[in-house]
Amino acid sequence: MMRPIEAMSVLITGGGSGLGAGFARFYAERGAKVTICGRREEKIKAMARELGPNVRGEAADVAKDADRRRIIAAAVEHGGGLDALVNNAGNMLHGPITGLEEQALIDIFHVNVVAGMQLTGLAVPHLEQRRGAIAFIGSVHTRRAFPGASAYAATKGALEALTKVLAAELGPKQIRVNCIVPGAVPTEINIRAGLFTEEQHAKRMAGLASSHVLGRIGSEEDVAEAMDYCLRADWCTGHALVIDGGLSLGLSNF
Ligand SMILES: NC(=O)c1ccc[n+]([C@@H]2O[C@H](COP(=O)([O-])OP(=O)(O)OC[C@H]3O[C@@H](n4cnc5c(N)ncnc54)[C@H](OP(=O)(O)O)[C@@H]3O)[C@@H](O)[C@H]2O)c1
Repeated sequence: MMRPIEAMSVLITGGGSGLGAGFARFYAERGAKVTICGRREEKIKAMARELGPNVRGEAADVAKDADRRRIIAAAVEHGGGLDALVNNAGNMLHGPITGLEEQALIDIFHVNVVAGMQLTGLAVPHLEQRRGAIAFIGSVHTRRAFPGASAYAATKGALEALTKVLAAELGPKQIRVNCIVPGAVPTEINIRAGLFTEEQHAKRMAGLASSHVLGRIGSEEDVAEAMDYCLRADWCTGHALVIDGGLSLGLSNF
């Protein structure tokens, strides 16, 4: 049975922009208590103000243990417990395999994979009390090969593997673990990584539309609806839900 949204307390990392902000909006508009975090204090506070009193914004870096403990405590306090953890914070690293720097690789694995694992461990005692759920955010990069994105794709592949193991490990505690695998949605991620200007990014996204079976790129709400299913459907665990308008089908007009 799908549990009622308005009774939920949800912690979303990286909720100051993009998909995370979309998840926060989706749940806050439906009455859930939402806690979001990000490193840029102004950004996270502005998003919390925009979304209203159901949302609490915390400036925090998920790569830091003290910050992770603080956001778990903040979410538990704000929502009176914790029903869902959305490990959404993530970064892009781009470049040929011949030029990738070791520290940059360590950094992207730290934020995209290790931080979510550690946060998950801290969330378990709280989620256990509410038969809660965890979502990781994978990527269509595990379904389509984009040259130059090996590091990013590898982190996303790790999350899919992790999802299965943690679903098995946490199932006896009645905690469900799923991974959302989104296609292309226009957000800041590539701009923050210094890959494109906003104008170049808009052009690139528009160019990608025709690679989708449905002829369009995605929206934050498209992805939020899919994630909501995984968080609230009581018998759904260990699943990777591709939500990409058919991008991963590899449309070919030959
Ligand atoms: N957009 C897409 O097409 C797409 C497709 C598939 C998967 N995804 C995944 O979706 C997730 C969200 O990305 P997005 O596309 O929405 O990009 P985004 O708008 O750049 O959002 C990512 C957020 O993560 C936060 N963040 C990064 N490092 C952090 C850290 N160490 N601690 C706390 N917060 C951190 C950033 O805020 P601060 O810089 O302020 O910390 C930012 O608000 C990522 O995991 C991404 O890989 C995106």
